[in-house]
Amino acid sequence: MSPYADRLVACRRWLAEHPAGGIVLFPSRNLEYLTGFADEPSERALFLFLTADHDPVFFVPELAAEQIADRTPVDDIRTWSDAEGPADPLAALCSELGVDGSRLLVDETMWAQFTHLLESTLSKATFGLADELMTDLRIRKDDAEIAALRAAAEVADAAMTAVRGLGTEAVGMTEVELAARIEAELAAAGGAEPSFEPIVGSGLNGAMPHHTHGERVIEAGEPVVLDFGTRVDGYPSDQTRTVAFDGKPDDEFRTVHELVRRAQTAAIETIEPGVTAGDVDAAAREIIETAGYGERFIHRTGHGVGLDIHEEPTIVDGSDRLLEPNMVFSVEPGIYLPGKFGVRIEDLVVVTPDGCERLNTTPRKWQI
Ligand code: CO
Repeated sequence: MSPYADRLVACRRWLAEHPAGGIVLFPSRNLEYLTGFADEPSERALFLFLTADHDPVFFVPELAAEQIADRTPVDDIRTWSDAEGPADPLAALCSELGVDGSRLLVDETMWAQFTHLLESTLSKATFGLADELMTDLRIRKDDAEIAALRAAAEVADAAMTAVRGLGTEAVGMTEVELAARIEAELAAAGGAEPSFEPIVGSGLNGAMPHHTHGERVIEAGEPVVLDFGTRVDGYPSDQTRTVAFDGKPDDEFRTVHELVRRAQTAAIETIEPGVTAGDVDAAAREIIETAGYGERFIHRTGHGVGLDIHEEPTIVDGSDRLLEPNMVFSVEPGIYLPGKFGVRIEDLVVVTPDGCERLNTTPRKWQI
């Protein structure tokens, strides 16, 4: 059964209970979440209007109307043609919906040309961002979403196991070659497309958390940060291991790896409903700070994962967001030593009624 009709109802209920006159989405993860429409944005105006007291309305280019009718549960579809342009039909629709003068929430990823079109059409409206509403709807995953996230995590785990299995064979490969191998393993295990460019951070490249991959050759005995994921049924995985393919890294790496592993375990043991996101961050950070590496833990401890690879809840210092069952997020402390190496260990977890469950289960040790 499609979840979209219920989600649209929940969205309209939220609007009825909060000081916002409506929400206007364009092709985005929010629109995909509410309607199943997942196309990329284009230069032609395409909006979904939702208000508390009117059925959802799609405002679309004529050439997309049939597709929208086919793929979404929204029945009310208004079109504009290339010959007339969107401005006049949009003004007519907005006056019918009575949204001028109200506060409208727009997609935070909406292209400026479209917010500009809305602003010039609705001269008396004020604007906010859709995440005010959409985070509330999306932050707790339903059973089908958790099943997809679990399946995507299993594919990532299978690929990680295969990559670890390369052993000394990986020594002498370039990061680019290993990244290609990772993508092939993800696809072979059933992944649809990578969640993001795979990260293969060998040696000193591992000290840059968002280094993806380059021509550097993986050497014997050096740490390699492996961070990748794939999508299954639209939902991504995201996990990280830091390994040494020939098993002879130096003492400093062994010490730092053990520290990060302990920090990750401590953070995960903290997780249960009612704990704050900030508490989870603090649990990891305290261990790393006490050991003297606090300055080298240069990012938040984790991020929510759903249709977006980075969404709420953000697991960050000072956050007072309370964790609730069915929230899904990463726990990924790291230590980065410029010019030397980096270590990050990441698993996705789902909050349960009395704790959390890890969705990734491959070994966290650096040994192959
Ligand atoms: Co991540």
